[in-house]
Amino acid sequence: MASAAKITLVTGANGMVGSRIVARLQDSGAAVVGVGRGPRRAAGNFEYVDLDLRVPEKLAELIGSLRPSGVIHAAAMTDVDACEKDPLEAWLLNVRAVEAAALACRGLSARLTALSTDYVFDGEKGDYAEDDAPNPRGVYARTKRAGEEAALLLAPDVALCRVAVIYSGYQILRRTFASSAAESLRKGQPVKAFLDQVVTPTLADNAAEMVIGVHRSGAQGIFHCAGASAVTRVEFCRALARKLGADEALVEPVRLADLRLPAPRPLRSSLRTDKVRRLLGDGVPLPLDLALDRFLEEGRA
Ligand SMILES: NC(=O)c1ccc[n+]([C@@H]2O[C@H](COP(=O)([O-])OP(=O)(O)OC[C@H]3O[C@@H](n4cnc5c(N)ncnc54)[C@H](OP(=O)(O)O)[C@@H]3O)[C@@H](O)[C@H]2O)c1
Repeated sequence: MASAAKITLVTGANGMVGSRIVARLQDSGAAVVGVGRGPRRAAGNFEYVDLDLRVPEKLAELIGSLRPSGVIHAAAMTDVDACEKDPLEAWLLNVRAVEAAALACRGLSARLTALSTDYVFDGEKGDYAEDDAPNPRGVYARTKRAGEEAALLLAPDVALCRVAVIYSGYQILRRTFASSAAESLRKGQPVKAFLDQVVTPTLADNAAEMVIGVHRSGAQGIFHCAGASAVTRVEFCRALARKLGADEALVEPVRLADLRLPAPRPLRSSLRTDKVRRLLGDGVPLPLDLALDRFLEEGRA
């Protein structure tokens, strides 16, 4: 194994963003240890540790024994409706595991980069900058916000990367709104999409690029690592239909409230990406058109 001082430990290694972080770090020649739940599903030949983060002490122990130079914490309970039904598990994953990572990093003077969400905002304003005041609604949002505070207060060398509406073309990963929509559009089947939710959809691989950039920069504080285009889900699906040569009329607009979902969702939670552009370069957060090209390429790989 590489010298501990150079290891980057990545949680959520089987997840949409975490798996791309691991892949990109490996491609750059970095020493990576990936932490996931159950058997490894992510591609790559990295060292993998199976660890259930509902016992956060185990993460602290692992960090303490590996002594990595940095931790990128991408694991979370991300199903917002499941969080609403099980606040205890959401608290363990989205708060206690972040707290454990932050305290362990504090003990080693290691850098912590933790992932968070646009859902920390209530969605009444939209176009949120990093210094806008959060007002989370619902269990997922409130636990993610509490996790942000744990990271910011406890880790002395810390960055928080907020991402939004993640999608990915990589097949091994769980299906996203975008992959289901692409499949239906290709078959000529209708796709229901919200007309009243404005978001900044983020390609998982592009999020990974930004998260690694922020992590390596050593910059402190909050960074919005989202896609560059703020769109409704209807606009997203119509853009996807155009890329696929499918009929845009297959996209059926629906209102968020019509679905009566258990967890509240912000209506306008788009994130400004000016700060991460200043840090990493103007073209790094991808506009929707380029992100959709990469999404479709990923699906063909
Ligand atoms: N997905 C989105 O749309 C979205 C939007 C905004 C912010 N975010 C944030 O972005 C980050 C990355 O999420 P993602 O998009 O990559 O979602 P994801 O694919 O659901 O990844 C989350 C990972 O956490 C792992 N995990 C869950 N419970 C665990 C447990 N008990 N023990 C160990 N690992 C566990 C999951 O394991 P399994 O693979 O085994 O389930 C999964 O690999 C999270 O902080 C999330 O809150 C995501």
